[in-house]
Amino acid sequence: MTHYRSAGKCPIAIVGAGTMGAGIAQIFAQGGHPVRLQARKKETLEAALRRIRVNQDELIRHELLTAADAEAARGRITVTQDLKEALAGAAFVSENIPERLDLKQPLFAELDRLTPTEVILSTNTSSLPITQVAGDTKHPERVVGFHWFNPPHLIPLVEVIRGDRTSDASMDETYRLAQAIGKSPIRVQKDIPGFVGNRLQRSLEREFFYLERIGACSGADLEVALKQGLGFRWSVVGPLEHADLAGVDTHAATVALLFPLLSTDPAPPPLFANLVAKGRLGAKTGAGVYEYGAGEVEHILARRNAMLIDFIKVLKKHPPLRAPQAQAG
Ligand SMILES: NC(=O)c1ccc[n+]([C@@H]2O[C@H](COP(=O)([O-])OP(=O)(O)OC[C@H]3O[C@@H](n4cnc5c(N)ncnc54)[C@H](O)[C@@H]3O)[C@@H](O)[C@H]2O)c1
Repeated sequence: MTHYRSAGKCPIAIVGAGTMGAGIAQIFAQGGHPVRLQARKKETLEAALRRIRVNQDELIRHELLTAADAEAARGRITVTQDLKEALAGAAFVSENIPERLDLKQPLFAELDRLTPTEVILSTNTSSLPITQVAGDTKHPERVVGFHWFNPPHLIPLVEVIRGDRTSDASMDETYRLAQAIGKSPIRVQKDIPGFVGNRLQRSLEREFFYLERIGACSGADLEVALKQGLGFRWSVVGPLEHADLAGVDTHAATVALLFPLLSTDPAPPPLFANLVAKGRLGAKTGAGVYEYGAGEVEHILARRNAMLIDFIKVLKKHPPLRAPQAQAG
């Protein structure tokens, strides 16, 4: 099998140029790929180019990108309002339009009609089944989930998700392409709601809100527990590696003791619905769970990105010890 998408620097078409599309275009271009970024409105494309510039300036300030490489990458991006023009000659399509099946399904039918069958069609859906997104295509074997995490230009993880009819070749080529642009892909082999990243996240959040509700800990302290404890360590050793390092017998005992005691509450916490009802939608409205004064959100975002960028440098300094291997047991 040839892997021309990752081996060469194949042309990439990106459909949708909002929060995710812009950062994704940036990463493909920085990876050496010619990129055509498509949106229906001129202003969306202009905003995307501005966002890419801001993202890159931040990387340059933190010495993760040179000004020359940033400029060369921007030179590989062309923008267009015309879908056909975006798709012409593309070997891989990344879809980033809003999270609505009634938009994505017809778009994929159109992508399927407009591109040769060897082109891989990927969706960045966070929650819609890949099988349904591909539902109206004649070639669902080439439709694959390619789920990025926000901010896409900084978070290494991407999920490569198999729909019920996605081919092995589409999975493999997408995985290799993700590796070639410096991401850390995982294969999600079942088209399950939330895939893997969001399921892990929400299962932890359920226990978070349970502990807060029964008064075991304040929300602020629980955030410290995750940021300074579990998240801190998990970014270096995952639960399986940790079990080996801490002692499998000890781990087995705590798992057996605690699993039956954890929350299984199916009801979502009232907090978010209450905030939405009050119009407290977070940073974009100046208040959400917390209140934000003038300039505070910008300061928090700059700090977040600076820490993520420093962590990317740490990961570069300490590459993985070995490729994931089969587990015993
Ligand atoms: N924002 C996140 O944190 C995040 C993270 C991971 C995945 N995603 C997923 O990525 C996708 C895009 O999310 P986003 O946050 O970038 O949304 P967004 O609203 O910021 O951007 C979507 C863009 O698509 C354009 N658009 C709408 N309909 C279109 C069409 N038919 N053809 C072409 N362009 C169209 C809109 O004008 C907009 O610019 C969604 O499926 C979302 O679930 C989002």
